[in-house]
Amino acid sequence: MAEQSLLKRAVLAGIGAYLPAQILTNEDMAKRVDTSDDWITERTGIKQRHFAAPHETAAYMGAAAGRQALEQAGLPPEALGAIIVATSTPDQAFPSTAVHIQAALGAKNAFGFDLSAACSGFIYALSVADAMLRVNQVQAVLVIGSEVYSRILNFEDRGTCVLFGDGAGAVLLVAREVEKNGPGLLSTHLHADGQLADILYVDGAVGQKEKPGHLVMHGREVFRHAVNLLTGAVNEALSENGLTAADIDLLVPHQANRRIIDGVGRKLGLPPERVVTTVDKHANTSAASIPLALASAVASGQAKPGQLLLLEALGGGLTWGSALLRL
Ligand code: UT7
Repeated sequence: MAEQSLLKRAVLAGIGAYLPAQILTNEDMAKRVDTSDDWITERTGIKQRHFAAPHETAAYMGAAAGRQALEQAGLPPEALGAIIVATSTPDQAFPSTAVHIQAALGAKNAFGFDLSAACSGFIYALSVADAMLRVNQVQAVLVIGSEVYSRILNFEDRGTCVLFGDGAGAVLLVAREVEKNGPGLLSTHLHADGQLADILYVDGAVGQKEKPGHLVMHGREVFRHAVNLLTGAVNEALSENGLTAADIDLLVPHQANRRIIDGVGRKLGLPPERVVTTVDKHANTSAASIPLALASAVASGQAKPGQLLLLEALGGGLTWGSALLRL
């Protein structure tokens, strides 16, 4: 019998999540701005969000999620070769959130850096980690999405402040030789269109004269692009791997809006039980939303070893992308 050749892949070895204790329901938001539970639920599917306390920074939450991922994998922090943090809300312009997390974890052999691609940041970070692992640059990478959007929300703008929440999720990826149908990242697909930079952005930065600013979103415009661009990225992942939607066990989408999540699920012909949805509990946590959704699906048993997961996200940039991951 011919021996099956092995492939080098980035395999998920552990996963972690952190959500701040403070929960704000839609009714709580209605006390701050002119909105209602009915409007938020009907337009977005969001019922509540977590908001960080002052000590809960992107580094603090990311370290907590990362520690959990290491514990689940049974690996010591010294085993890490790199830490990549996808965030738009870092503790400082520099040093990076990643080096704060490296210190907090005692991951003394890891290098680290932050990656900025807004809500697509986790998919972008997965792609970078995948490349580093495949070429043997490192053997274990902690990929973290960590965000404190409550600190960049404009609480005078009801069109955006009700949509976002805080939290962090982490995955530990390790390099493994596996069979073709074995676990790991099959491929990642990244896109950007800077011509659309002005439909979702933060109106300030440390490099500008003004103070770090607030999130601005032309929601209807973003929505208009979202389902089509995401469906394109998802189909690209399927066709590159010679797969069809029927091969997907679970869709793990960025959690911005239930209507966008359902729209992509419908285009793929996936029934609701094969689409992971956490937007009701977490709202939009930007780069943290996919690892948080993944952690929740693994914890509940919705995602099981051996299953094929399709991840997708779209965010400010615009940036968007997809990834195929076998657990
Ligand atoms: O994660 C990054 C990617 N982001 C996204 O994917 C978000 C994409 N966009 C969306 O999810 C939706 O566009 C939103 C949820 C942001 C908004 O939903 P929409 O159906 O596009 O509403 P809209 O912005 O067109 O506003 C409709 C109405 C407006 O009133 P008029 O002008 O029709 O009288 C708004 O003033 O709803 C009003 N409105 C609100 N009413 C109550 C806007 N925000 C609120 C609110 N409560 N919080």
